[in-house]
Amino acid sequence: MLCKVGEDIKVTIYGLGHMGLPTAALLARSGLKILGADINPQIVEQINQGRSPILEPGLDEMVHETVKSSHLSATTDMGEASRYSEVHMVIVPTPVDENKVADLKAVKIACQSIVKGLKEGDLVIIESTVPPGTCRNVVIPLLEESGLKVGVDFGLAYTPERALPNNTLEEMAHNPRIIGAVDQCSGDKASSLYQRITSGKIIRVTDLQTAEMVKLMENTYRDTNIALANEFALICESLGIDALEAIKAANHHPRVNIHTPGPGVGGHCLSIDPYFLVEIAKKQDIDTPLIKTSRMVNEKMPLEVARMARESLKEKGKDLKGATVGILGVAYKGNVADARESPAEDLIKELLSSGGVVYVHDPHAPSKIVESFGAIPADMSRTLQCDCVILVTDHDVYGQIEPSMVKKGLFICTRPILDPKTFREAGVTFKGVGRS
Ligand SMILES: NC(=O)c1ccc[n+]([C@@H]2O[C@H](COP(=O)([O-])OP(=O)(O)OC[C@H]3O[C@@H](n4cnc5c(N)ncnc54)[C@H](O)[C@@H]3O)[C@@H](O)[C@H]2O)c1
Repeated sequence: MLCKVGEDIKVTIYGLGHMGLPTAALLARSGLKILGADINPQIVEQINQGRSPILEPGLDEMVHETVKSSHLSATTDMGEASRYSEVHMVIVPTPVDENKVADLKAVKIACQSIVKGLKEGDLVIIESTVPPGTCRNVVIPLLEESGLKVGVDFGLAYTPERALPNNTLEEMAHNPRIIGAVDQCSGDKASSLYQRITSGKIIRVTDLQTAEMVKLMENTYRDTNIALANEFALICESLGIDALEAIKAANHHPRVNIHTPGPGVGGHCLSIDPYFLVEIAKKQDIDTPLIKTSRMVNEKMPLEVARMARESLKEKGKDLKGATVGILGVAYKGNVADARESPAEDLIKELLSSGGVVYVHDPHAPSKIVESFGAIPADMSRTLQCDCVILVTDHDVYGQIEPSMVKKGLFICTRPILDPKTFREAGVTFKGVGRS
């Protein structure tokens, strides 16, 4: 087996979403022939027209350029996709089900698609975030249904994706990459593929399972740290201490790195991945109270924000029932459209169940998401006219909000992008975290 990808190698990428499409576009731009395989015909059609269905700086241009040069194309035909290539990359979603257990359905279906065309000498790379042991216990048995043997007839590597939405292409081109593989040759081959698109260090770990674990450790560390920051912020709020000022000062300690508090944790990674560890630990008879508590703290933050709104309105002689509440941002992070697992959803539901009338502005997320949360889509000026305004997402545009724009004088800020002093001096009641 050749342990390096050649210039003429063809790659299929299963899953053309937030991570799969940028990977496909970068590999295509490096000169390889890339076929993207996705179950969603609209996504495939848009890509084949040279347009990116994902809002991501630079991606639309890169898709346009690589489709035009015939280095990138897309299909829904999984048989064609698997027969086309020598390298098969799986970047499909891995959510949790209602019991907070990893839903590996898409990974399994993608592996079954690969089996249709898997040949001797091929390499399979799994990028989807999965519980440790998934490659060994789920992926390999499925791929070996082809009659071929892993490590003998075909290779397998696992490499987690770490890119940050809204800076995905930049990060994919520079972030270090962790690679675990079933054997030396699979690891070498995967490394040579990623070296085409990243200047970041390639870090080889002992095996597939170690690489699976690394990703979960990273995100669980961040989730736990944010939970701590959120508890600090709640204590600070009750004592009238500027949480950000205190956190920034504490972070001057050479061994302290407290993260930024917020309205909760959303997105496809931090709010899900820790559950993969809880699940695997349970199977090993290990309790994980710290990880579970951190999740609980972060999941309850939207309720804390709703409580803050209820109490602040009361201080102004108003009941939340019947009051108008304006939400700025439903996306889980600034300047993206993605509202998966966004804390805004639970916050809106809590406000509505208390009888609030909720208006929502988001310059990026489609209004159908706002409607699906049960709120009324509105422009920014209408949202700022509400009895209580809550900033949930740190979209850049909200950094320009002036005190005079907050018509009813009550502003709850869950992201540190505004200066509380300016608001307070102008007579606005400013609660939450401010830019310190
Ligand atoms: N989004 C992130 O910030 C991020 C960061 C790091 C890691 N990850 C991980 O990367 C993986 C992919 O995440 P994403 O955000 O790109 O997901 P996504 O939902 O944006 O995109 C997934 C794509 O896969 C397609 N798909 C689903 N099942 C398929 C199948 N069987 N065959 C082919 N295509 C299929 C979907 O139609 C969709 O277009 C997940 O495991 C996620 O945890 C995501």
